Amino acid sequence: MFFGPEFLDLLRDKVVLSDVVARRVKLTRKGRESLGLCPFHKEKTPSFTVNDEKGFYHCFGCGAHGDVIRFLTDCEKIPFTEAVEMLAQMAGVPLPKPDKKEMARQAHQTSLAEIMEFACQYFQMQLRTPAGQKVCDYLKNRGLTGQTAKNFRLGYAPSGNGLLHHLKSKGCDLHQCQKLGLLAFNSTRQLWHDYFYDRVMFPIFDRRKRVIGFSGRMLEKGEPKYLNSPETDLFHKGEQLFGLPFAIDTIRRKNEAIVVEGNMDVISLHQHGWTQVVAPLGTAFTEKQLQILWHMCDEPVMCFDGDSAGQHAMIRALNRALPLLVPGKSLKFAVLPQGMDPDDMMRQKSDSTWKNIIQNAQSFSEVLWSDLLATHDYSTPEKHAKFEKDALEKVSKIQNVEVRRLYEREMHERLRGLLYKKSGRGKGMKISAPQVDDFLLASLYAYPQELSIFSESLGNLKHFSGLRETALFNGWLDAVLTGQELPMPETEKKLMHQIEVIRSSKKPVVVVQEVERFISDLQLQQLRTEFALKQAEYLKTESPEIKVQIDSLRQEIENFLSEHDV
Ligand code: GTP
Ligand code: MN
Repeated sequence: MFFGPEFLDLLRDKVVLSDVVARRVKLTRKGRESLGLCPFHKEKTPSFTVNDEKGFYHCFGCGAHGDVIRFLTDCEKIPFTEAVEMLAQMAGVPLPKPDKKEMARQAHQTSLAEIMEFACQYFQMQLRTPAGQKVCDYLKNRGLTGQTAKNFRLGYAPSGNGLLHHLKSKGCDLHQCQKLGLLAFNSTRQLWHDYFYDRVMFPIFDRRKRVIGFSGRMLEKGEPKYLNSPETDLFHKGEQLFGLPFAIDTIRRKNEAIVVEGNMDVISLHQHGWTQVVAPLGTAFTEKQLQILWHMCDEPVMCFDGDSAGQHAMIRALNRALPLLVPGKSLKFAVLPQGMDPDDMMRQKSDSTWKNIIQNAQSFSEVLWSDLLATHDYSTPEKHAKFEKDALEKVSKIQNVEVRRLYEREMHERLRGLLYKKSGRGKGMKISAPQVDDFLLASLYAYPQELSIFSESLGNLKHFSGLRETALFNGWLDAVLTGQELPMPETEKKLMHQIEVIRSSKKPVVVVQEVERFISDLQLQQLRTEFALKQAEYLKTESPEIKVQIDSLRQEIENFLSEHDV
């Protein structure tokens, strides 16, 4: 359905934005605007404003912004057309009659869809012929049930020109069939013939379950393994996802989508109850496909093979999505064990292995950082500077200001963590201690007794070894442990002054709290740095041992976060 701009404006005028928003969000009036808790991010104090005069909402927390149509598509997670229809109903406005051109286009599409439907029925019927028996066996062998084959309308394109005869008998225009990639014309022999020969047929459906294309798989080994319908008026590969109409409901309900590589993976996972799974159609994941999923859920999980091709595909997907990140919308990445696709895994391993892999999917920023680590060296100031430059350049590609700003901040923190780590190894250049360390040391000297409870956790913080304060710091630890007092060396004028300031302005209990927070920040930072380094190592070595360490580190970080309520 096509809606002209006048019609959309009419709807925007007729419907009061705050009425529509109020169905979802409790609003209180404040002057010309209404205020409430933002439905697009979690918050405790309201920063979501609705301006009826302007017809726009805006969230000062997450940057969500739009008109009434945008509110419906994003909040109800429904497609544009549905939102417009819903509004028309609310406003009591009849839907416009499509114009002539539009009607002609739709009629054309309907006739094309009809032909595709005939073809699909034909392929399905072939499963019941003697020649089709081998395909039934093949599908069974691959673990699919009859019910699954029926749901996904799997079929068989035999050798010969059966489809040609079938489509002729239905009175179809052969040239249209040719355009749809079902038939071909041999101009030397002046003969029409079928396009798909001796292949298992997987129909590709649009979101309303109309057949718009086919993917045909060879039964035996051979090239090409899959033959897809060409681009047609109905079928644009980059704008479709295999399995989408079967997955929409679950994706919306669970706010979770899983993207795998192969059609067979989709079908096999659906059969095992994973009905939120879709696949791009053998192409690299496109922006359009990402937007389709983002309309239905916040963070689709993309699965990739553990081999290097899979890792490259993962980084490609990451780079494609990077500029498009907006508040609340991201991607997660799951890595499969080498040489196994989800379909293999379903059949050879338990469901829980797969579940684990999905649950342990890495966040966007983690993968971004691991990739930077894996491709950069930072053992000299020059190399480190290049690392920093590339990292910030990468983050600058994010178009959304809020997301970009936070990524920049995180990048700076991670880069700083790298300095700690490096000096911890005693490698590379010496750096002067950041002021935070002076703060810690001064606090320790100011109230040694009260802070002696932290001696163990401080001793475990590798962060300090290699820094300027090492001698002082270790000296202090020893002193505390053996119950002695340690004077600050005369040369440390600045520190002496800081100690004085602390003693005169802060009570011990306040300093204890500050130091406690400071230590837990450092612990977390250390865990994260270790995590990133392990991941970089894994990308290089693919060693299963490292993978185990990564998993346990991830667990440790999660525990840490929940214990410390960060
Ligand atoms: P099975 O081998 O039947 O398990 O298929 P699969 O889905 O696991 O295939 P694979 O992992 O080899 O490829 C993943 C996806 O890439 C497929 O589902 C296809 O969409 C696409 N693909 C694979 N091979 C070809 C090919 O030869 N041509 C085209 N056009 N696409 C292909
Ligand atoms: Mn496979």
